[in-house]
Amino acid sequence: MRRVYLDHAATTPVDPEVAQAMARVYRDVPGNPSSIYAEGRAARALVDEAREQVAEAIGAQLSEIVFTSGGTEADNLALRGAVKAYRGERDGIVASAIEHHAVLDTARDMVDHGEARLVLAPVSPQGIADVAFVASAIDARTAIVSVMHANNEIGTIQPIAAIGEICRQRGVLFHSDAVQSAGALELDVRKVAVDLLSLNAHKFYGPKGVGALYVRKGTRVATIQTGGGQEKGRRTGTENVAGIVGLGLAMTIAVRKREEESLRQSILRDRLIEGVLNAPVFATLTGHPTMRLPNSASFVLEGVDGTSLIAALDMAGFSVSSGSACTSGDTEPSHVILALGIDRELAKGSLRVTVGRSTTDADVEAFLAALPGVVARIRGSTPVHA
Ligand SMILES: Cc1ncc(COP(=O)(O)O)c(C=O)c1O
Repeated sequence: MRRVYLDHAATTPVDPEVAQAMARVYRDVPGNPSSIYAEGRAARALVDEAREQVAEAIGAQLSEIVFTSGGTEADNLALRGAVKAYRGERDGIVASAIEHHAVLDTARDMVDHGEARLVLAPVSPQGIADVAFVASAIDARTAIVSVMHANNEIGTIQPIAAIGEICRQRGVLFHSDAVQSAGALELDVRKVAVDLLSLNAHKFYGPKGVGALYVRKGTRVATIQTGGGQEKGRRTGTENVAGIVGLGLAMTIAVRKREEESLRQSILRDRLIEGVLNAPVFATLTGHPTMRLPNSASFVLEGVDGTSLIAALDMAGFSVSSGSACTSGDTEPSHVILALGIDRELAKGSLRVTVGRSTTDADVEAFLAALPGVVARIRGSTPVHA
């Protein structure tokens, strides 16, 4: 059976050019970048080149890029490192209610350990963070505000320029998780008042397990792990040289393809939205109708369980996702969908369809043709919704 992959927000396949570059590193560059002899210097040169590629893509300086093991670590380093650097002088975190678990659970863990206080900013029914609330939540003890650039479940693009300005005026650090947007939306740190920015490679056709944190010059971020002192002591541990090479090249390719792909994918996205909303499946769009990632369509469907829907679509050959997760036999709706004010039962039927570079019109039409039958089948087999 032909498979149609429509879950590019979960991860993207590695670009063949990136895979080749990484294979060359594994084959030809055995050195540790910290070694001062030839093999080490060759590895160091590759890490430096990738740092230039990432820095150039976001308008940063070389010294402002810290490589990490991915988006989760970048978010942890931003929040934990910034609060730690304040040494108890400031411990407040203000975050939007729809942040990724890498931000929310990190902040909550810090609260549980008495290291931080957390205020969650609500979002509008269309998933846009409440800027006035964020401004009012900042106080003299606030260390950092964290609002993502674009949401991973509903694709909404957040007003980070406005939030950044408020943070700058109030003397508070601003972190943005740009994991979902880094390959798709332009972001120049010279134009947006962001101090810390997380990204990873696997959302823009690079490898999994590698990412970066942009740290604006002068921003104090304490290290959260101890060891050999790599990355100027900000993120210690031997660098993932091949992964970093993959990240740098994937970023460069993403920037090159951005305009053309964003336009092409947004046409597929809009066709998906129109097709699903017009299909006999009782679907409602989640997130903002226009201020959303070019590749992301998301819905809630009445009377279906998200986990069952994903499983049934999988059997029909389609890979998509749901914010709802199955925990101990029950479906737990996603915090993002609940934050939109959607009731728990309806929130359980969330569906996310995200297109990518390889998605064609035929893929989208095949999905739209299959969806009503699949939904009818699972509704029929779920007596409670019959
Ligand atoms: C918005 C957002 N932040 C953070 C992460 C975590 O990144 P990683 O998978 O590189 O740890 C993800 C990945 O799903 C994400 O979508």
